[in-house]
This record gives sequence, structure tokens and C-alpha cells, in this order.
Amino acid sequence: MIRNSERLPGSDPNETLLGGNTNIKIRYVVLVGVGMGLLTSCAGMSLDDPIIARKNLMRDNNNNLEAIEAYLKENKGGTADVASHARKVASIAKQIKGLFPKGTSLKDRPGQTRAKPAIWAKRAIHIEQAAEIMYGYAMSLADAADSGDKRAIGAALDQLDKRGCGGCHSKFRALK
Ligand code: HEC
Repeated sequence: MIRNSERLPGSDPNETLLGGNTNIKIRYVVLVGVGMGLLTSCAGMSLDDPIIARKNLMRDNNNNLEAIEAYLKENKGGTADVASHARKVASIAKQIKGLFPKGTSLKDRPGQTRAKPAIWAKRAIHIEQAAEIMYGYAMSLADAADSGDKRAIGAALDQLDKRGCGGCHSKFRALK
């Protein structure tokens, strides 16, 4: 009795060029291909999609603010942590300019983003100004944290939230 592995290719009379295992392999390759296509083209997005990158960075913003709020409300961490979170937000502000490439407004990609087309009308000015404002408030918050004054931290967080983040959202982010 000859085992499969001992057979020379083509020595099996039942094996045609596209028969047996080869056919299974081709089907598998097609299925994997379709699966990857679905993953990367899901609603037109891919893993390096600028809209996803933008939302991720915005969520980072939020996480940092929430950590500072946890210090204020529940005494989680200390002022050094607050300062570090504030500086992270400031460093995100520096990256904001690159988050709005052309073709990523809610008009270009309906249902995938809340970025209003108004951003692109005067993109450089709008986004740079908003990012600068956000940076300024984030650095004031870092200064307040360095001073160790909890009330000053609370006030600075409020300003950053309302003016730094909210100022841009109210103009350039569509409601859900
Ligand atoms: C330059 C303008 C601008 C600034 C400044 C800004 N944002 Fe945003 N943010 C946006 C826009 C536009 C969107 C919508 C992005 C999208 O849907 O593609 C957004 C979306 C978000 C989202 C939702 C992300 C998601 O998953 O859909 C969160 C949370 C957020 N921002 C938090 C913040 C926080 C916190 C700050 C301040 C520390 C901030 N943002 C500063 C413009 C800004």
C-alpha cells in the first residue's frame, strides 16, 4: 500500500491538474482573500485610514482629560500625573494639523466621520488656530498641575475642555 506522501506527483490516476488538494487550496486562498478584503474595505475604511487615526487621537484626548478628572473627583494619582496628561494633550495639539487631509469630511465619507466641510474652507487657518488654542490651554493646565493647586487645576481643566476642545467641536464637529 502506498501512502499519499510517497506518491510521486501525477502518479495517481485520479489526480487531475486542478483536482484533489489543489482545488481545496485554491478555494482557501480565495476565501482568505475575500476575508481580508472585507476587513480592510469595511465601509471603505482601512487600518491606516486618516479618519480612524483622527478619531483615535481624539479619543486619546478624552482619555487624558478623564484621567485628570479622576484626580479631581476621586484623588486618583497626583499632580505629577495631571501634568503629564496635560502635556500629552498639548503634544496631541501639535499633531492636529495633520489630522484633516482632503477627502475626509462628512460630505466625502458620509456616515464615517463628523468632520464638517467648513474645516476645509479655510483649513489651514481654522485648524491651526484651534490647535494653537487647545495647546495654550493644555499648557496652562500643565502649569497649574506643576503648582500643585487643585482648584487651579480644576479651573484650567474646565477652560481646556470648554474652549480648547469645545471651541473647535462647536464649529467643526457635526452632532451625532
Ligand atoms: C481642531 C479642532 C478640534 C480640537 C481642538 C479638538 N477636537 Fe475633538 N474632534 C474634532 C472633530 C472635527 C471631530 C470629528 C472627527 C471625525 O468624526 O472624523 C472630533 C472628534 C472628537 C471625539 C470623538 C471621536 C470618535 O471616536 O468619534 C472626541 C472624544 C474628541 N473629539 C475629544 C476631544 C478633546 C477631549 C479635545 C480637547 C482636549 C478635542 N477633541 C479637541 C475637532 C477637534
